[in-house]
Amino acid sequence: MKPNLICSSAILLSIFCVAVSMVNPPLGEIPILPEATFDYVPAEAPQYVNNSQAVRQVDNDAATLGRVIFYDKRLSKNGKISCASCHKQKHSFADDKQFSLGIDNIPSFRNAPNLNDLGWSETSSLFWDLGESKLHEMVLVPILNTDEMAGEFENVIDKLENTSFYPDLFYEAFGNSTISETKIGTALAHFINAMSTFNSKYDQVLQGYEEFSAAELSGKKLFNDNCRFCHSMNSFSSTNHVTVRNNALDSNFDADRGMGTWAGVENDGFFRSPSLRNVALSAPYMHDGRFATLEKVMQFYNEELQDTPNSFAINPPYYQQGGLNESGYHFTVTETSDIIAFLHTLTDETFTTDEKFSNPFPNQTVRTETLPNLENIKAYPIPSNNHVTIYYPTQSAEIILYDFHGRVIKRMESHGGEEVIYKNDLAPGMYGISILSENKQGNLKIIFN
Ligand code: HEC
Ligand code: HEC
Repeated sequence: MKPNLICSSAILLSIFCVAVSMVNPPLGEIPILPEATFDYVPAEAPQYVNNSQAVRQVDNDAATLGRVIFYDKRLSKNGKISCASCHKQKHSFADDKQFSLGIDNIPSFRNAPNLNDLGWSETSSLFWDLGESKLHEMVLVPILNTDEMAGEFENVIDKLENTSFYPDLFYEAFGNSTISETKIGTALAHFINAMSTFNSKYDQVLQGYEEFSAAELSGKKLFNDNCRFCHSMNSFSSTNHVTVRNNALDSNFDADRGMGTWAGVENDGFFRSPSLRNVALSAPYMHDGRFATLEKVMQFYNEELQDTPNSFAINPPYYQQGGLNESGYHFTVTETSDIIAFLHTLTDETFTTDEKFSNPFPNQTVRTETLPNLENIKAYPIPSNNHVTIYYPTQSAEIILYDFHGRVIKRMESHGGEEVIYKNDLAPGMYGISILSENKQGNLKIIFN
């Protein structure tokens, strides 16, 4: 039995909410959940999915709680951000913005990746730089990150305890209604592990229900011959240390060293690709969202590969497998569009429209408002050895300096159109600057050597 405070239909909700609208919590902050839980237990991975990893166990009550938490803005300090602000269902839980905006409109350093198929693919590491490995622990990171949700667990737990419905949801999921950090992480992991895309055309064809077109079939063969080493077939992910590569995107890693940030320079420029399942829905692409379309991605693979000691362009066996030479694969126009047609067969819109993964809060819309752009802001020099001067076009501004993990290092009230940031104790690397002035905002990245 679901707790009766959670309205099971719109009619019930309106009766209940009329009753409570004069007290806390206000209308719209109560999730509407089905009487019987949705079935989150994912289908077994089809047999042709060649992986040693079974689909991770998912419990319906824990995933139901995870869904509510995922969409709940109470988790953020200012009550405006939830996981879904950056991970949007219709984009397979990726962000369609290049960089996601967190608290105070501070942008993330990397593009928010899709979350589909993490529950069964060979995921031994998470994040673009493989810096996290355990989903149930990792999901707590954004709640605390100052640029993301900036919550503090004591406050978060307090807020959840003070609702009419969370204690019951925790009870259903865990057998008692105590709310803890660990349980929040576990519930989110159950919800995310339930996200799979086995209804794609690719899967339908492999299960014998549909057929590939000639173009898709040709694209599949080209993909198999040229891309599979890194984007393993079936999960289409590059999720462990063996398949993660420097895919020759850059010749200079100052802006983002990827795995090199924690594993040393020989891993500079190593990133993992999120699953290519649903890739057609998760633009923009790459860790920094630099490519807006799959056509742009293919143009890069065709002719813009950068040669560096770490890059696969000069590293056998990848070099020897396809028709790759130093600058790219040089696929013909038809081959290129065949590969893109094949990538489209990996789309599963039943997942991105499935109610069980949707927002249960009737009045909570995903935040879209951003502050208007502050034009003509500059920083000089980049990179810098000891100090950077920030120039902005208004008399006064608030300047926020934050690190790669989004932790705010310093907030400064600044006057006179410029401000100097000294390196002092800062470690070498990339930092973010947000300039807030007269309800406008500008963002910059600076680098200290
Ligand atoms: C402000 C935007 C933002 C918010 C809010 C946010 N995320 Fe993320 N998320 C990101 C970005 C950006 C990354 C990539 C980080 C990286 O690789 O360095 C990411 C990565 C992830 C990953 C790893 C995916 C992978 O394939 O490696 C998971 C899982 C995830 N987020 C879940 C969550 C959950 C759960 C919440 C809510 C508790 C949340 N996120 C809130 C932006 C956000
Ligand atoms: C040497 C390994 C390697 C090869 C070969 C390779 N990729 Fe990638 N791919 C990656 C890595 C690593 C990333 C993520 C790079 C980053 O963001 O910095 C990536 C990213 C992508 C993305 C963007 C994913 C996203 O969600 O942002 C697409 C699309 C893609 N690759 C398609 C292909 C295709 C098509 C081929 C074959 C023509 C191919 N890749 C060959 C390693 C490889």
